[in-house]
Amino acid sequence: MIRFANSKDLKDLLEIENESFDDNSFAMSRQNFLYHIKKNPLFVYEKNGKIYGYVLLLLRSNSKKARIYSIAVDKSFRGLGIASKLLEKSFSHALNNDKKLIKLEVRIDNTNAIKIYEKYGFSHTKILKAYYPDKSDAFVMQKALLF
Ligand SMILES: CC(C)(COP(=O)(O)OP(=O)(O)OC[C@H]1O[C@@H](n2cnc3c(N)ncnc32)[C@H](O)[C@@H]1OP(=O)(O)O)[C@@H](O)C(=O)NCCC(=O)NCCS
Repeated sequence: MIRFANSKDLKDLLEIENESFDDNSFAMSRQNFLYHIKKNPLFVYEKNGKIYGYVLLLLRSNSKKARIYSIAVDKSFRGLGIASKLLEKSFSHALNNDKKLIKLEVRIDNTNAIKIYEKYGFSHTKILKAYYPDKSDAFVMQKALLF
């Protein structure tokens, strides 16, 4: 099931985070997760009490754009559709909050992530040069939520 994260999920969230990202990809710390759990929609995919993935969505009250800040799935459970379910939850949550567009940044060499975003209808809008700490570039991708 997909539900909002709570502080009991921290251990699983940090495990997923640390195997998915490093400092060059803005890996979130315990403090970062605690902050977002309180302030922003952070959804987890849970089965039998274990967390297998998460998505963090940012919604600003003065904007019609939602932003996927981060998404990651437990390494041993990738390719099973978990990120797809989390993305679909993000779209419906953003729509329910009156957002018209959803955007994200992704490393230009993260082909698996780019594939899933393209599959869900995101298009490339621009390149952010040296966006990451290791000076790697990012694609900005976005998708309209209303047609
Ligand atoms: C990107 C990520 C979240 C995908 O999670 P997932 O649960 O494995 O994704 P899904 O099983 O829902 O896959 C859906 C689609 O993603 C793409 N995809 C995912 N993994 C892929 C792989 N190893 N090879 C090719 N395409 C892949 C495909 O388009 C796939 O659709 P298909 O099954 O019809 O081919 C996961 O690989 C991950 O956690 N990566 C590390 C963190 C990361 O890079 N996050 C994105 C930051 S912008």
